Amino acid sequence: MATERGQFSSKIGFLLAAAGSAVGLGNIWGFPTQAASNGGAAFLLVYLILAFILAYPALMAELTIGRYARANVITALSELSPSPLLKRAGLAVGIGALTVAVFILSFYAIVAGWMLAEFISPAAQLLQLDGLARWVGSQSFSRNALMCGVMSALTIMIIARGVEQGIEAWSTRLMPALFLILLGMIGYVFTQAGALAGLRAYLVPDLTRLGDPALILSAMGQAFFSLSLGVGTMLIYGSYLRDTDNLPRLGAAVTLLDTGFAFTAGLLILPAIYVAQAQGISVFNTEGTLIAGPDLIFQVLPALFDNMGAAGSWLALAFFALMSIAALTSAISLLEVPVSVAVERCSMSRPTAALLSGGVIFMISLLIIWQFDALFNTVISLTTVYGQPLLGVALCVFAGWVLHRNQLLKELSNGHPEIESTFFWRVWPFYVKFICPSLILITFVQSVR
Ligand code: PHE
Repeated sequence: MATERGQFSSKIGFLLAAAGSAVGLGNIWGFPTQAASNGGAAFLLVYLILAFILAYPALMAELTIGRYARANVITALSELSPSPLLKRAGLAVGIGALTVAVFILSFYAIVAGWMLAEFISPAAQLLQLDGLARWVGSQSFSRNALMCGVMSALTIMIIARGVEQGIEAWSTRLMPALFLILLGMIGYVFTQAGALAGLRAYLVPDLTRLGDPALILSAMGQAFFSLSLGVGTMLIYGSYLRDTDNLPRLGAAVTLLDTGFAFTAGLLILPAIYVAQAQGISVFNTEGTLIAGPDLIFQVLPALFDNMGAAGSWLALAFFALMSIAALTSAISLLEVPVSVAVERCSMSRPTAALLSGGVIFMISLLIIWQFDALFNTVISLTTVYGQPLLGVALCVFAGWVLHRNQLLKELSNGHPEIESTFFWRVWPFYVKFICPSLILITFVQSVR
């Protein structure tokens, strides 16, 4: 069995794939705008601390379970312990993670489709295909369905090709492209009037906000969503790692890449908002807070690009290519969760599993597009506000309580015995057992009250 499973061919392949999963819409639009409305660098500071003291240990829990069990999320969790009760609990948590992954992908693919539409729109303008530009700029059902369908089809095609030829090959191509586009855009935006005010809003901390519970809650939610935790994505990627790859170091590198990317995206988005303001575009809503979320991406930024003439069309093209690529590498990691279950538990071939799971998820997306007002926000909050933190706790509990301390340490330090003697790794098993689940639960209870 073990030899038939896919495997990442190199550390860098794993790193780019895991960072590809982590770096997504959450980094490029979620993080910068949350930072802007929550005290600038104060949010950044709290976010960085939480990413390293809470999200990183939880990420390590998922990667460790994955590599130890070398299986999809359901099989991994239900076979960690011989006890029938724990097997059943593992099965339930595994099915929960699979379900949340499926529903996150169903709304993520819709948003990815919008990004693709915004990418095609300036391309059509540049090519003077006016009819296409108008259709792709409309909010019609057919546009949303078709664009979501194209993103889903790309995701299915990549996943059907397997771990090395699909996930790894495409992440290795797309992630450097993503970074270059981001840097290029930052360079351009900094030549524009107003950019420095944005930089100041981002980097000068409002220290009075540091202890604010609302700020801490949003920073934790952001850290969990951003590191793709709680849905079995990191678990399955961990299961494709080689035995001797250094888990703690790879996990730390993924966390650094993810937070580094979020930070860098802030260097683009915040200055861009202030450049837009300097050009007379309204960037504050009626309560005087900065416009965030979809309105920022689909109104403020396009208005800014429009103001910039021909350069604007190229910028729009680059920006929405950036968003589409970021969304695609996250979407493939979400589809891998059900596909690995179908391949390993139902003996399906990978292409069939990809087509079937991707097809079912696309149907759910269509349903959400059709009943948008009733379903879209509900699905987002059920999966990200409730599902992810609770499953995150469950995965820490499995790593901390079900895996024996020695098994945990042995898996962590495989091929790297020096890891076992470090102070951090002596306390980590205790940490995922008690501290991590309690902290996540406390924050969760506070946030849903
Ligand atoms: N981490 C991705 C982002 O920041 C979203 C994601 C969540 C991907 C859960 C996979 C699993 O956009």
